[in-house]
Amino acid sequence: MSSKLWGGRFTGVNDPLMEAFNASISFDKRMWRADITGSQAYAQALARSGIITADEAAQLVAGLERVADEWAAGTFELHPGDEDIHTANERRLTELLGDVAGKLHTGRSRNDQVATDTRLWLLGEIGVLRGHLRELIRIATDRAAAEIDLLMPGYTHLQPAQPTRWSHWLLSHAWPWQRDAQRLDELTQRVGSLPLGSGALAGNPFRVDRDFLAQALGFASVAPNSLDAVSDRDFVAEFLFWASLTMLHLSRWSEDLIIYSSREFGFVVVADAYSTGSSLMPQKKNPDSLELLRGKSGRVFGELAGFLMTAKGLPSSFNKDLQEDKEPLYDAVDTLCDSLQIAGGVLATLTVKPEKLAASLVPEMLSTDLAEYLVRKGIPFRETHHVAGAAVRLAEESGVPLSALSPAQLQSLHPAFGEDVAEVWSYERSVEQRDASGGSSRRAVQAQIASLRGWLAQG
Ligand code: ARG
Repeated sequence: MSSKLWGGRFTGVNDPLMEAFNASISFDKRMWRADITGSQAYAQALARSGIITADEAAQLVAGLERVADEWAAGTFELHPGDEDIHTANERRLTELLGDVAGKLHTGRSRNDQVATDTRLWLLGEIGVLRGHLRELIRIATDRAAAEIDLLMPGYTHLQPAQPTRWSHWLLSHAWPWQRDAQRLDELTQRVGSLPLGSGALAGNPFRVDRDFLAQALGFASVAPNSLDAVSDRDFVAEFLFWASLTMLHLSRWSEDLIIYSSREFGFVVVADAYSTGSSLMPQKKNPDSLELLRGKSGRVFGELAGFLMTAKGLPSSFNKDLQEDKEPLYDAVDTLCDSLQIAGGVLATLTVKPEKLAASLVPEMLSTDLAEYLVRKGIPFRETHHVAGAAVRLAEESGVPLSALSPAQLQSLHPAFGEDVAEVWSYERSVEQRDASGGSSRRAVQAQIASLRGWLAQG
């Protein structure tokens, strides 16, 4: 008899390259714990349905625990015929228990098994990723609170635009991360839909109690259609999209910091722990951590695009193409796990240079405030924008900073300018004017911090 689970109808042997091509054990062995846990619950469900005895179920559960111990101790020995983690665990269980092991797979298929294992494994990983993401948001929020006094230039099109708070910039990245955490929570609901008890496609003939299985395995719900349950990889696609968008956010944050850490800006210094040197130029200190975050985002986007292409033309139920969900999923989980921790480390150890931030503020960044000064005197904004533009031109032509124009010079541009125009030339005032909620005034930024802290307190 062939040693393969599906050997009954086969007489020939596989081409050895086909064996290797078909096998997923080299990567799916990392789901060993999920596979064991799923099988233990399934053995119990079989006993509850009366198709195996309670004693047989107890033997299966204990035997599976011995297999798990071998994986945990690193003593599990893979055999050449171990096609995937499901095959390997059942083969070993049979060696340990003999014939009774052959009852475990009653009414089950690797189709509902692999879908269950992958979801169960992913649920565990999501818990870890959620923790790293939350920590990153906490670090950003704490820094924003501690460094709320610092003002910096804000940019549009990477051109100096208006003064803002350093904390406001920090939080402008914390919010996308918080949305990423919310999105992760939402998709977790759908990952937690249980395929087990669907069989190969048509359902389970022994009336296993799927609600019992869902509860035993920590799933929130039971997949409502067996054919859908073995076909459905939406959860993989959704997770890969989540991973992609989270990497996009990390990448844009990285890009800001790469620019800010350049000599020309000098706003921040990336800690040595997250930098590397050059093999040729002794003076170099490069922000490799940030460049890798930016670079790895492309890799994760590729995993999403590749998986969508794998899945799009498949007929219903299981097709072996679906085995191709594992490597992109695993790699995305690993990449996100590292990336979120690296980002947290970079942010926690980053040095900010207040004097550099301050030195980069120039009076021209207050020309909007100059226009707004006239608006407060009742002049329509479109007109004040024009007047302020003329003031910028006059200052340029006179070779002086905008703030050095005298009240008389300004009055020559518009009679509504008074002596009190001097108050416009304060960066702090400019920022404090932006006090509507969501703005960069101290009060508005503190409200953001309080709101994020409230969210963090929920776990
Ligand atoms: N190793 C497979 C996977 O990762 C599960 C096997 C289901 N195979 C099958 N021929 N029905 O998707």
